Amino acid sequence: MKNCLYKSFQKYFKTGVALSSFFLMTNEEFASYMKGIESYLLNVCKLKSITKLPDIEKIKKDTMEVLNYAKTQFNVIVPENDCKMQYVYKSEDLIDFSWPDRYVKFAKENNQKLRWHTLVWHSQVAEWIFYDENKKYVSKELLDKRLKFYIDSLGKRYKNDIYSIDVINECISDKTFTLRNGKEKSLWYEILGETYIEKAFLYAKEAFPNSELVINDYNLESVEQKRYGLFNLVKKLLNKGVPIDAVGLQMHINLQTPSVQEIRETIEMFGSLGIKVIITEMDISIYNDIPDEERFENQKIITSEILDLQAERYFNVFECFKNYGKTGILSDVVLWGITDRFSWRNDFPVPKRIDAPLLFDRKGNPKPAYYKLIR
Ligand code: G3I
Repeated sequence: MKNCLYKSFQKYFKTGVALSSFFLMTNEEFASYMKGIESYLLNVCKLKSITKLPDIEKIKKDTMEVLNYAKTQFNVIVPENDCKMQYVYKSEDLIDFSWPDRYVKFAKENNQKLRWHTLVWHSQVAEWIFYDENKKYVSKELLDKRLKFYIDSLGKRYKNDIYSIDVINECISDKTFTLRNGKEKSLWYEILGETYIEKAFLYAKEAFPNSELVINDYNLESVEQKRYGLFNLVKKLLNKGVPIDAVGLQMHINLQTPSVQEIRETIEMFGSLGIKVIITEMDISIYNDIPDEERFENQKIITSEILDLQAERYFNVFECFKNYGKTGILSDVVLWGITDRFSWRNDFPVPKRIDAPLLFDRKGNPKPAYYKLIR
């Protein structure tokens, strides 16, 4: 491979990738992970038996090859799951630093920058944090204290290691386009009210004074009302002096929507607030679903025509990003995974439908989109 992704774009922005624990596990951890899957299939999915056990050696070898791309093609990494609160904040005074420590070490060894995903989210949260010993919601004061303790503890350990942080993830409702509430699973809102957002940013600023603090969400380009919902919120918070440095556009898109024009409008709209825009979780599904109308395509054969269309689409969207990289509004573009094989989109929005949204195929080979992007 003559060139590489991050070098192709370093004049414009940093190029990152989400990495999962799967790639950093020791052989023993990997074997026990596979046992976990086996027992999940038998006990939760109620399969009677598993006739074909996965070839652990083979999977591990493939994994190491893929990991090599993560080390050489990107200058930013982001833990896909392991820094979510569920995996880190174990109980009242116990923070498990073991996985974040590994990512810090990995990034240092490979000369990469590290983002933290994510401090406050309604999903993959440490559920215990919301309840007392009687299984009732905790008071505002106690939840606030726990949140501050969590962010402070992370700052003490990592303030020099993490350059950018998703402080708040997915706080805008897809129904009301205002703050997601308890009915939509945000116990943060339910217990702390809307101030949970500014509290999280203020605590993050104290704990990580030099990191970029981000508010991150999805479908902001394709759903105009949602874009305005977040815009109005960020504008209000900035006017109050809340230290928000950037808006994160997740960019889980498909071959047709959103249009490049919608992406441009979204970047410009948030840029007009005087803050930065970063692309935090990009992938391009080969299925042109319309979730609002519950229209989902059936499994497709992944032809070379589809992969060429995808390459064209990646190219056009990256050209748009380059323009905003030049003007300084956009500073990072992060892809949500390395190879198609491990992408979350193989299970969402249609379970078990094979997708191919990334730059490397299921075997770990670069796809047309990769070749179209590198220079
Ligand atoms: O860790 C368990 C493992 O012990 C168990 O054996 C296995 C059985 O399925 O599950 C493992 O947990 C999975 C976890 O990923 C770690 O691999 C969960 O089932 C699975 O639901 C979870 O999915 C993640 C998803 O967030 C959860 O909401 C995806 O990998 C991750 O890509 C996705 O990322 C989100 C961003 O955080 C926020 N934006 C949207 C994006 C895509 O949904």
